[in-house]
Amino acid sequence: MKNKKVILIFTVLAAVVLINSCKKEPEETPDEPYVLDYGTFPEPQIAGDNPLTREGVKLGRMLFYEKMLSRTNTQSCASCHMQQFAFNDTAKFSLGVKNLPGKRNAMSVFNMAWNTNAFFWDGRAQLLRHQSLKPVQDPLEMDETLENIVAKLQASSTYRQQFRRAFGTSTIDTLLISKALEQFMNSIVSNKSKYDDYLAGRATLTPEEERGRFLFFTEYNPAFPAASGADCQHCHGGANFENDKYMNNGIDDDASVSDIGREKVTGLAGDKAKFKVPSLRNVGLTAPYMHDGRFRTLEEVVDHYNLVQNSATLDPSFQQQLPNGGLQLSAADKAALVAFLHTLTDQQLTTNPAYSSPF
Ligand code: HEC
Ligand code: HEC
Repeated sequence: MKNKKVILIFTVLAAVVLINSCKKEPEETPDEPYVLDYGTFPEPQIAGDNPLTREGVKLGRMLFYEKMLSRTNTQSCASCHMQQFAFNDTAKFSLGVKNLPGKRNAMSVFNMAWNTNAFFWDGRAQLLRHQSLKPVQDPLEMDETLENIVAKLQASSTYRQQFRRAFGTSTIDTLLISKALEQFMNSIVSNKSKYDDYLAGRATLTPEEERGRFLFFTEYNPAFPAASGADCQHCHGGANFENDKYMNNGIDDDASVSDIGREKVTGLAGDKAKFKVPSLRNVGLTAPYMHDGRFRTLEEVVDHYNLVQNSATLDPSFQQQLPNGGLQLSAADKAALVAFLHTLTDQQLTTNPAYSSPF
């Protein structure tokens, strides 16, 4: 009697499981985690509610290269964020679908998983998922509505299928679009430059690159000129050569500031003319430089740092250099800094098929 009851319960349970699994079959396609290979980098900061999965990253990659995200179906994220330039643009101001220039220089997109303090030059987007929908709607960029991109993608059986594989539903919405883009951008890692090889003992720096490395990482010390450095690591430090902060690096004085940067987001006068400290990895590929693309070459950038402009929010590390006329770098030392910056170029980033167009 007892056994019969147990068997009955099991039969009913099995039937329920079977029916359910048939009904839900397409919803339950198991997705595998996407394994991020980040070598000796610290643990990446990936939002707990959007772990990287193989199908999610694949969908994000499709969307990153998808021209349907623009009103004219002619521009994708990759139009301004080109792999061969470390996912940056070569124009001072990228042109949007109306052929009009934007207001700031494009930014590189790699090692985003190590950017823990918001996105854009002024940090107006908290997470990548917030960031990723802004260019779509920006009239000077892709100039499209969120309703339209959802409708265009929903009409495609390829996308319906890929959203189902990635998120278990073929009902497309803007949150899922933005989460897929977040996953793909978080999957782009750059850690295979000559400098990384040098750290691992697989490459040697030339004497000039070595001198540049010394200047980059050594504090400024006017009392001992021979031991004094350019203190770039003060801001461009750590594995990703940035510090997740918004700072003023002295490209303008108070009178010449035309873009208030971080102040527009926080409303604080103390944030005037502060901008995100960008990673210097791959900087040899990402000219022109600064939020407004004002410097065409790394030589111009280093010339700038040799004697910066004073202003109310200038970083104190530069303030102490001003009374001594700036860093006073020799021509050879300027060239050495530039040579060191070129060791941060990662040719595997620019050629990795995992990041290239899937179409
Ligand atoms: C027309 C050129 C253009 C297009 C198209 C474009 N971007 Fe950008 N991107 C920019 C510019 C310019 C900035 C800097 C804007 C600013 O700070 O105000 C930027 C900044 C970013 C950043 C910030 C990086 C950081 O370190 O904070 C990310 C991420 C990004 N874009 C991803 C995307 C994605 C995803 C798409 C497609 C949905 C896209 N972009 C489409 C030009 C473009
Ligand atoms: C006090 C912090 C600070 C120090 C020190 C500093 N930087 Fe910067 N750096 C920044 C900020 C902030 C930006 C972005 C400013 C902007 O776009 O307006 C920047 C931008 C750059 C860029 C342009 C990157 C791009 O993608 O456009 C390069 C190259 C650069 N710095 C190199 C250096 C070098 C070399 C040194 C040492 C001589 C140095 N920095 C010292 C804060 C700093």
